[in-house]
Amino acid sequence: MICHSYLAIAGIKPNYMLKNLWYAVEFSDAVTTHPTLLKIFDRELVLYRTSDGHIQAMANACVHRGAALANGWIDRDCIVCPYHGWHYQPDGSCVKIPSITTGNIPKSARMTTDPVQEKYGWIWLFLGDGSPGEIPSLPNFPQVEASNLRSIQGEFDWNANYERVLENGLDFAHAPFVHAGAFGNPDLPQIADLEIENFAEGASATVHLAATPPQGLWKLLVRGERAPIKTRTGFCLPNITFLEVYLPFGQLTIWTAHVPIDLHTTVSKWINFRTFFTGKWADKDAYNRTIKIFEQDKPIVESQRPQLIPDDLKTELYVPADALQLQYRKLRQYLLS
Ligand code: FES
Ligand SMILES: [Fe+2]
Repeated sequence: MICHSYLAIAGIKPNYMLKNLWYAVEFSDAVTTHPTLLKIFDRELVLYRTSDGHIQAMANACVHRGAALANGWIDRDCIVCPYHGWHYQPDGSCVKIPSITTGNIPKSARMTTDPVQEKYGWIWLFLGDGSPGEIPSLPNFPQVEASNLRSIQGEFDWNANYERVLENGLDFAHAPFVHAGAFGNPDLPQIADLEIENFAEGASATVHLAATPPQGLWKLLVRGERAPIKTRTGFCLPNITFLEVYLPFGQLTIWTAHVPIDLHTTVSKWINFRTFFTGKWADKDAYNRTIKIFEQDKPIVESQRPQLIPDDLKTELYVPADALQLQYRKLRQYLLS
């Protein structure tokens, strides 16, 4: 069933980009008062933070001769082009052209800007052509704000389309094969009783996954065979996946923004929360475990052909374990049609 709160979203075109939605594109702490280059869907933007803490997003190629503003600097909240020193204020209008001695600054000396917000440790960019009234709000992740969680963050690069990467995050049945050396149990590959839940921004599924005994540091917390582990995974459109793992000793949650650099390149920016081992001393172990999982997935996801997921739902096959991916594809197809 398609979630009806999304049916009102406008600006839908037959294109691989889902339009008029907020994309999580960068970590908040990566954007400072120095210009930062952002590549997304083959576009180059520049992000920077003004003195009052707000984030600005602007096209990167200067309207004068196309030099990269990301190589410039900030002067009193204006971004300054490094080629001829034109100053653009946060609304994109040019307020200073150093070479001019007489006359006015042309009205067309203006950079395009994009709506941007900051929430949950990410910068969110609105990509589309909808008017402000049509802009849907950001997803709600109330659990991210819980104060008892220890969080770490990191990035992972893929030579793959972001939707293949995103779907990998919704796939339960690969764990016994791809992650047999981590948590997947190759002796118990069955996926039973997938519970799908639809919500305003996407959908999730919950299963009890067979797991192998814990390794490394986690051995300190539990010994012997593991009972099946309750695992919930899901997506928030357009580019977020999440994973909640209910371990016998606590909860692990990973939120990941899959940033589409271009058709064949993705950067996953993940935030990992845990309720156990909440000291800094365990951060490296948590980081390494997350990266290990991505590295196990990487060669498989990068090998998938076609590189873009098919638009026609009849092109690939679906079994019950694929129900969440199918839900993503149905919703995506609806938004693109
Ligand atoms: S190219 Fe930017 S000021 Fe000339
Ligand atoms: Fe995986």
